[in-house]
Amino acid sequence: MPSHRTRLPQTTIIMTTTLIKHGTLITAAECIEADLLIEGEQIRLIGRQLEMAADEIVDAAGKYVLPGGIDVHTHLDMPLGNLRAADDFESGTMAAACGGTTTIIDYAAHAHGERMEQGLTNWFRKADGKAVVDYGFHLTLSEFTAHTLPDMARMVAAGVTSFKVFTAYPGRLMLDDGAILKVLRRAEELGGLVCVHAENGAAIQTLIEDALAAGQTAPRYHALTRPADLEGEAVHRVITLAKLVGAHLYLVHVSSAAAVRQIMTARQEGLPVLAETCPQYLLLSADEYDLPEFLGAKYVMSPPLRAQADQEALWRAMQGRMIQVVGTDHCPFNFNGQKTLGRDDFSKIPNGGPGIETRLSLLYTGGVCTGRLALTHFVDLIATAPAKLFGLYPQKGTLAPGSDADLVIIDPETETLISAITHHSRADYSLYEGMRVKGMPELVMLRGQIIAKNGEFCGTPGYGRFLKRVV
Ligand code: URP
Ligand code: ZN
Ligand code: ZN
Repeated sequence: MPSHRTRLPQTTIIMTTTLIKHGTLITAAECIEADLLIEGEQIRLIGRQLEMAADEIVDAAGKYVLPGGIDVHTHLDMPLGNLRAADDFESGTMAAACGGTTTIIDYAAHAHGERMEQGLTNWFRKADGKAVVDYGFHLTLSEFTAHTLPDMARMVAAGVTSFKVFTAYPGRLMLDDGAILKVLRRAEELGGLVCVHAENGAAIQTLIEDALAAGQTAPRYHALTRPADLEGEAVHRVITLAKLVGAHLYLVHVSSAAAVRQIMTARQEGLPVLAETCPQYLLLSADEYDLPEFLGAKYVMSPPLRAQADQEALWRAMQGRMIQVVGTDHCPFNFNGQKTLGRDDFSKIPNGGPGIETRLSLLYTGGVCTGRLALTHFVDLIATAPAKLFGLYPQKGTLAPGSDADLVIIDPETETLISAITHHSRADYSLYEGMRVKGMPELVMLRGQIIAKNGEFCGTPGYGRFLKRVV
């Protein structure tokens, strides 16, 4: 019988295949010698000595193959008063790609008086057509209004399942304890997660005023007016608030032994307190603030760099799984023209520094090469735990059939020199200028496409896709 149905033209979807052979595959669970087949955007197969035809064969003999890095703490195209962070979504994600990060979660924010939707729309515009790696957003609650709690539900429905609150920066971002309690309770009801920047903003403000009144204007007073005990106090306070309402809590950029002590106590009590630190707090100290010619301003960030003993406490906390994630808090301001605005007053130095490109290599060098971290633990800190905590697993954060083919190949022996001359961020300096590191990626793939090779970016602006997260 003749068919009366319209004949549709046949579409053939051609899936490119890539076979990665002879590598050592590292996940958070194990290191195995295996081959990995990519079909289209996903990992299709992992097995020993896979013998099959593929469009591309990559020889990874002697190399490590890791899941693409996930940086859950970035500030791209971020406004700060009249200033703007040096990297937008194009330059910032290019730098991320070259350093082995294939997914970021950036902090979108709404301005005072603006609804959260508007803030989110602005961030979509910033990323659209520019991002070269996949991205999600957290939403920073810049103030607490009658709209805050209902708007949080709209954000979760839009795939933005985590929120940031500040106990610091009074008058600009700081929320009071009552507001934080309400946000924690609401987030828990919605299945979301609250990320907290914990420093006692009011006490810090007094110390800043005292220092300036005494003529203490140099960058070192940034650190001296933000002592570690005021981080410990704020961490203790938000843990107490979260405990009261039975909420999960994620502490961003933990920098001090004082904060670690509070986190350990809470976790020993069984509370769902999660924590992130950043390479700068593991590897750099407050001595940087004493650099001559105002160069210490490059290191002005909040919380500030701390003492050697704090670094040791952070490494031990990671080793004991008290800290689960290493992010960057990539928030670059140029030294010339931006940091220099605070030449006569440290409190006018824009806070933040670049770091999106060096996270993997610094943690590999400082953690794996020194024997402090097993390779599997390293992968957990830079990819798997962030994916799990922020609703991206197992699409991201691991090497498994069905997961996105986001991966990084590193040659464990190759050394690279970190320099602002060669990095891809638009920041005019590096916090690690002249440092030699291992673990810079040889090859980086995002959903089956090569986006960086031997330190050169080879992706496409706009290839990065928004990740709508679900609770
Ligand atoms: O100094 C910093 N960290 N600036 C970025 C914003 C924040 O506090 O995370
Ligand atoms: Zn912060
Ligand atoms: Zn931040």
